[in-house]
Amino acid sequence: MTQPTLESNRLLMRPFSQTDANRVRELAGEYEVARYTEAVPHPYEEGEAERWIACQSEEFSRGTGATFAITLKENGSLLGAIGLIIATNHKKANIGYWIGKPYWSSGYCTEAAQVVIDYAFDELSIHRIYARHMAGNPASGRVMEKIGMKKEGELVDDMFRDGNFHTMIIYGMINSTLRK
Ligand SMILES: CC(C)(COP(=O)(O)OP(=O)(O)OC[C@H]1O[C@@H](n2cnc3c(N)ncnc32)[C@H](O)[C@@H]1OP(=O)(O)O)[C@@H](O)C(=O)NCCC(=O)NCCS
Repeated sequence: MTQPTLESNRLLMRPFSQTDANRVRELAGEYEVARYTEAVPHPYEEGEAERWIACQSEEFSRGTGATFAITLKENGSLLGAIGLIIATNHKKANIGYWIGKPYWSSGYCTEAAQVVIDYAFDELSIHRIYARHMAGNPASGRVMEKIGMKKEGELVDDMFRDGNFHTMIIYGMINSTLRK
């Protein structure tokens, strides 16, 4: 199966290509973006974006992941990334995302996440989608609320990043006809 390009009002969510690597490094390389994520390294070394992008098509083929570049329809600009890490045996996926700082608070993440969630439920037969955000990162929690996820609890000191433990807030949603 080939990874599709997904579409919303203003955005195209397409597979990454190696030509995106430099821009990924610029955007995700900002500490304000990396600090709230589980996996974006800081500092963001040369070659890291290329390695990250290179793994994505195999993960998609194996059914264990689906990572999309979030781009603006009008001019193709890369805004950020959104992805699913899929536990196929449990029919569940963890959704994660980041948006480059110049593009924050324009509704882009919410718009992208809505489409990716529909894709996961409708095309990948995912039953449950969940996400975690640091307690100190309410903007991400707001995105989860806006796409219809429900807060499920707090995971005390669940993540160790930059020398500190971080309590994570977990949100989830189930594929049901009630979700729309
Ligand atoms: C979290 C992130 C992806 C949001 O992207 P975005 O495109 O700005 O998100 P949206 O514009 O769709 O929605 C953001 C919402 O958070 C709100 N928000 C922003 N800063 C906030 C804050 N400090 N406290 C509470 N809400 C906040 C915005 O007002 C908006 O809500 P609204 O539409 O009700 O006004 C982006 O800030 C980011 O990449 N942060 C760094 C990486 C990260 O946190 N990734 C997620 C890890 S779980």
